Formats: sequence, C-alpha cells, structure tokens
Amino acid sequence: MGKFNIRFLPYDKSVEIDAETTLLKASINAGAHINAPCGGKGTCGKCLVRVKEGDYDTRFTPQLSEENKGKGFLLGCETRPRGDMVVEVPIESQIRPGEKIATGAKKEELHRMFMELAGEVRPRTKKICLKLAPPSIDDHVADLERLKRELSAAGFNTDHFYCGLPVLRTLGKILREEGWDVTVTLYQSGTALEMLDIESKEMCGIRYGAAVDIGTTSVVVYLVNLITGEIIDTAASYNAQARCGDDVISRIVYATEMDGLDELQRLVVDNINHLLTGIAKKHSIDINLIDKMIVAGNTTMTHLFYGINPESIRLEPYVPAVSLFPVIRAINLGINIQDTAPLYSFPNVASYVGGDIVAGVLTSRIYTKEETYLFIDVGTNGEVVLGNRDWMMTCACSAGPCFEGSGIKFGMRAMEGAIEKVDINPVTFEVNCGIIGNVKPIGICGSGMIDALAEMYLTGVIDQKGKFRDGLDTHRIRRGENGMEYVLAWRVESGIDKEITLTEVDIDNLIRAKGAIYAGFTTLLGEVGMTFNDIAKLYIAGGFGRYIDVERAITIGMLPDMPLDKFEFLGNTSVTGAYLVLLSDKLREEAEEIAKKMTYLELSVCRPFMDEYMSALFLPHTNIDSFPSVKRLLNEVGNVKL
Ligand code: FES
Repeated sequence: MGKFNIRFLPYDKSVEIDAETTLLKASINAGAHINAPCGGKGTCGKCLVRVKEGDYDTRFTPQLSEENKGKGFLLGCETRPRGDMVVEVPIESQIRPGEKIATGAKKEELHRMFMELAGEVRPRTKKICLKLAPPSIDDHVADLERLKRELSAAGFNTDHFYCGLPVLRTLGKILREEGWDVTVTLYQSGTALEMLDIESKEMCGIRYGAAVDIGTTSVVVYLVNLITGEIIDTAASYNAQARCGDDVISRIVYATEMDGLDELQRLVVDNINHLLTGIAKKHSIDINLIDKMIVAGNTTMTHLFYGINPESIRLEPYVPAVSLFPVIRAINLGINIQDTAPLYSFPNVASYVGGDIVAGVLTSRIYTKEETYLFIDVGTNGEVVLGNRDWMMTCACSAGPCFEGSGIKFGMRAMEGAIEKVDINPVTFEVNCGIIGNVKPIGICGSGMIDALAEMYLTGVIDQKGKFRDGLDTHRIRRGENGMEYVLAWRVESGIDKEITLTEVDIDNLIRAKGAIYAGFTTLLGEVGMTFNDIAKLYIAGGFGRYIDVERAITIGMLPDMPLDKFEFLGNTSVTGAYLVLLSDKLREEAEEIAKKMTYLELSVCRPFMDEYMSALFLPHTNIDSFPSVKRLLNEVGNVKL
C-alpha cells in the first residue's frame, strides 16, 4: 500500500502513513498534539483539524457541529488521506505539552515533613563504603567471596546473596583499579541481599533517586538526593497518553481494542525519561547515578506503565491483573537510569482505587488518627477514603473527567486561555470572566465551570435542576445547536473566532459529576452510620483539587456544607507519597499496610449509592436543608424561589 506524507501545522511535523490510517493516529506518530478525549472513538467531537492541502476521505458525524463544519473543520479520527496533505490543528484542539504544570512541590516543606515522619533517610537500597584486604599467598580467597566476607564483617547477612552478571563481570577489574577500596550498592529484601553495583570509593556519598506520579492527566517527577533526602528539583508534563483518550476507560479501550498497549507504554516511559533527563542535565547530574525509582499511579496507569493488559479493569467483576507489583529493574521498562536500579510501585487497592490513593493516605496520615477523616483525590475521577487508625473504607466515584474539560463543549484544562472565574450580574445577567494568562478566552476549565454553575444558580439563570429559566431579560441565554445555552464570551471577545458557551447538556454533565462525588461521600458515611458532623477534617488532594473554590463547590453541592476550616488542601499527594517511600523502608511497609487495610466499596453495584446519587442531581441537593449555608445565601440574594 502506498504511503502519503502528512504535515501538521503549526507544529511543522510530518509523518508518512497509509490510506487506512486516520489523521489523529498520524498526529500521534508525528508528535503533533491533538486533543482526543474519547481516544479516537468519534464520540467527543474535539479532534478538530482543517485540511490546507491534499485529498482525503472523511465521515461527517453528528459530533462535528454545524458551526465547525461551516468553518471547514473535520474530525481527525474520521479522516484518512488520499494523497500527501498539509493539515492545520486549530488552537482549541491543540494540547500544548510545554504548558507549565504545578509539581506540587514545596521542596523544603516536604523534606521537613519527611524528617518529622521518619526521622532518618533509610531507603531499602544502601550504598556503603567497603575496604577489603588485598589478596595474598596466605589469603587467596576469590574476589566475590572476599567481598562477601567483608560484608558479613560489616553486619550484613550474606546467606542469600545475589549479584547480577554485569556486576560480576566488572567486579575483579574495579576492585583492583580502586585498590580494594570501593563503594557497593546493596538492595535488601527480607533475608535476600543483592549487590546492585560496585564503584569507586568517591561515589559513596553520591546517590540519587526518582519519585514519580503517573497521573491520567499529568506526570510529575522529583529528583532526590538519597543521602540527605533533599529534593533537588521537580518537573512535570502532561501525560502524552492523553492523545489516546482523556480518561482511564478511553485508554483501556485504546490499549485493548485499538491494539495500542505498546504505544501507551512507550508514551509514558518517554515522558518520564524526558523529565528526568531534563532535570538531571540542569543540575549536571549523571542520570546513571539514579539508582532507585518509586512510582505511584492509579491502577490503569500502573498497568499501562508496566505494559500489562488492563482489560479486566473495566470488565465485571473489575479485577486488575496486579495489585502488589513485584520490584523490577527500571531499565526493563525502558527507563534510562542506572542499569540495576530497582523500581517499586505503590500497591493498588482495587480496579478504580490505585497506588496514587494509597500514597495519598500515607501523606495525609489519616491511618494514624483517632478521629475520623475524609480524603478525596479529585482528578479525572474522584476517589474517596473515609477512616481513622482502626479502619478505612474507600470508593471511586465515576465523576468522569468533565472538570478537566472532557464532555463539555468548550471544556479545556487549566491552561492559558481558559476561563477560570465567572461573575454574573444578578440584575443584567451580564458576565465578567477571569482568564488564565489574561488573554482572549478559548474555553473554560474546571474551576471556571464550578464558578459558572454556582453563579448561574445564585443569580437565577438556571433552576435547581440546572435548566435555564424562561423569561429572563438577557440575550446571553439563547437556543443553540445543542439546545439552550449561556454565552460566556462573544465571538469578538474570544480567541477562537467562535462564541464560547455553556450549554444545558454541559450543565447536565457537570451536575452528574458533582452529584457522583457528593454521593460517594454520603454512601461511605452511610455504610458506617456516620454523618458529616462526625468528620474531623476533609482533605482535598489531586491535580484539579487545588483549584477548587470550596465555597463555590459547596454552593453547587459538590462538597458537603461543613465549616470552611474543616477543609484542607494537600496538593499532589501521589508524588509526595512516592517521595516519602523513596527515602524510607519503614514508610514503604506502612503503605503496604494501608493498602491491605482499606475496604473497597464497588459503587456500580451499590444500591444506596444510586439513591444518594439521584438525590444529588440537583443544585445543591434535593434536600436543601443539608446545605444550610447555601439556603441562607439564596435567601439573601432572593433571586431564586426555593
Ligand atoms: Fe475524534 Fe473524539 S471525536 S477523538
């Protein structure tokens, strides 16, 4: 079959593909980034492209709006080449990987926190200085046995001693070159002792480790000094797998039904290598001196990272292939650090509560508290943990990734051009939007959506069910292609030559997402006969979590109506947990205990959850009395009839 050359603008990246390959797939191969929340299934309508030159074959589906069709846009996942092409990716469909993502790090604070928790840096891998007696006619023990003898003298049990072939092959040379005064890196697991490396004695005080959070949306890496425990630097990027779908289900479908498992594995490994190489280079550190890596991620992300088929995660009875990952060599996954560096992943609890949540609980310390706490990680999903030092329950609310832009007509991530603040005048219903980067808006991000929903409700633009009210004197509310909508930015104000709106369908999706989160809280509490009054604190973690305005989230009924001082933001607890375990074997054991201790509640087969969910599909809730502060607010503004 003939090949065609496809050039993508504005990236100016080209790739050769055959006539059966879609432009979306071609863009992934070319490294040109197109937003594809549904992973190429043709259901999201967001992978817009415009053909500048060349012949093609396309399929017009209802997901391509009339407005976009009129502007000459096509869906990248429905278009195939019939000759060489030049293809433009419009701004609203671009994923900008260079966009700054918060790493969640306050380096000194985290180091202090670690020292308070663990007291000392004590990782499972150790580097020790070893001075051996040189061999002689009277002492002609072989090199390896000589080294083991010295290790025994230093207090190590060498009954179960291992050493890989590459180290074995260099052992004699290094011992002689270094005058029998060397540094060895050891990995201790139970009674087994493995020598990972042998180097010159100068290397004794130099060692580094990497703590990694593989999120569905972003990847965060910390480079850590394993001698002092200090964080040298941090780096983050969007998870490159996002080109193959926004949420875990789309990625599983891409891996299994579209034969994309190897590609997804390679994308995230490239992400990690790229970030690590970048910070190592910045600090003039040889990347081969990184001799340990800890990874935290949700169950699907860790399966994809290991290249393990994740199919069973989404099939009843929802059992993952692996919960407790054995320690492997990072290099076996393609991670470019020291050849023998061990890689440890946090254990998963269930298909939809993964190692990132175990890392979060470790960071929050709720498993040590006498009082009962709630913990939520709000990312592309909402995982909730309820508990204390005696017990813990957990569940995953299928909130979906709409707060990160998916399923919302003009939804986008919190990057430049996103509407993040919305203020509606209660008399004129005119709107004032705050935009990230103070540029023309190109869409709306999660915090903007929560703001918009709260403002629309409080000003009476929408009712308790999220439906637009009739008879309001404003041209901002109108009938659009997808039903009723509210115009947030007129065409002349926007950066995409289109009006930016929030539609009734968007509002329905947002209400379903916030309802699922709230119902997750109440279902767990109901299981143990508790109410929000019994909760000492609610910790909020996760990428999106840090942007949430708690008062606004209470107004729409996403968070419970508790005193504001009971909410606390913890930032990215997944990478913090990975950092803690990187430095302490004791904390690693605690993480494994946490995973064992958590009781998982599968909400998809939980009848009380359905009842709680149905009650939460209103603003803020069917029972307004469970939201007294919102009731007070509504009485004050007086625009809404309760
Ligand atoms: Fe093409 Fe979703 S419609 S990626």
